[in-house]
Amino acid sequence: MAETGRFTLRRSPDEGPGFAEDIRAGLTAVRKVIPPRYFYDELGSALFDAICRLPEYYVTRAENELLGGYRREIAAALGGVRRLVELGSGSARKTRLLLDELAGPLEYVPVDVDVSMLQRTGHELLVQYPSLTVSALSYDFRRAARAVRSMAAPSGSTSVLFLGSTIGNLDADEATALFRDLRAVLNPGDTVLLGADLRKPKAILEPAYNDALGVTAAFNLNLLQRINRELGGQFDLRSFAHRAFFDDNLSRIEMHLVSLREQTVRIEGLGLEVSFTEGETIHTENSYKYDDEMIGALTGKAGFRIEKKWMDTKGWFAEYLLV
Ligand code: SAH
Ligand code: TRP
Repeated sequence: MAETGRFTLRRSPDEGPGFAEDIRAGLTAVRKVIPPRYFYDELGSALFDAICRLPEYYVTRAENELLGGYRREIAAALGGVRRLVELGSGSARKTRLLLDELAGPLEYVPVDVDVSMLQRTGHELLVQYPSLTVSALSYDFRRAARAVRSMAAPSGSTSVLFLGSTIGNLDADEATALFRDLRAVLNPGDTVLLGADLRKPKAILEPAYNDALGVTAAFNLNLLQRINRELGGQFDLRSFAHRAFFDDNLSRIEMHLVSLREQTVRIEGLGLEVSFTEGETIHTENSYKYDDEMIGALTGKAGFRIEKKWMDTKGWFAEYLLV
């Protein structure tokens, strides 16, 4: 634990399988997959930051507009919050819109897999908000509930933020499991503010994940670069391409890395050789697009009720207040 006055950082005691084990399991599966949390090493987080500024990636702008426009109302709806937990906090840029409105002493609990981001963001916030304390958790947010439980707090004093439609990167089962875990550690009157990207035409959705500059492609390909760097992989990045498309039936964007030719790639650190046929893909992420019914189903099963909903002016993105 690193501690400098108002900042603490706690690391997860049991992270479960690490990068090496997950890559081995994912690349030896019949349908190859890599879990999306591995996007966010230092380079990956910087690329994600760039994605948020792309003209095609409307998500961040829509949520920013929404939080900016309704910040008073949203802060009021969070009631007398004393502890603000944020899952997948990243740069917490949008969070600051709410911190500006929340008066009095507040404990901010950012949860993220990228430790360097937690440190940088934490220290920035301490400078910006003198009455804030930061208790950062370097945890997989799917396992963070237990850590939150160990910090006792009175009823109605905790709010959990889950912004950026990061919920959409989890499958329905995983999302419901996460809400069940949260429900078990929250007290009556505590709230969750959930940012969700809404269903909309393909013509808007697909460019958001296929930007003309190729930043999203770089973000996706960085997974292979990371395997090369950390596990002694020998991926030739030019032999793979980024592919993202909207599946209307499943209501999700799927991101893949496509092998452009038949090839076998050695990963020294795993003592593994992985064969690809031409056109075979590694499934790297989903991003679900929601309507009220889907959000109600995901969260209702876990014991939450939708209390309020705010949308941006285009009706593209929604913030749900769950109790
Ligand atoms: N909330 C910010 C960042 C969204 S990007 C925004 O709305 O702009 C998603 C963030 O979640 C990244 O910072 C990433 O490091 C983190 N993340 C992704 N998967 C995670 C996981 N399983 N556990 C914890 N953090 C995760
Ligand atoms: N959760 C956000 C989304 O699905 C952000 C995100 C995660 C993202 N991975 C991405 C955006 C890859 C673009 C490309 O939109």
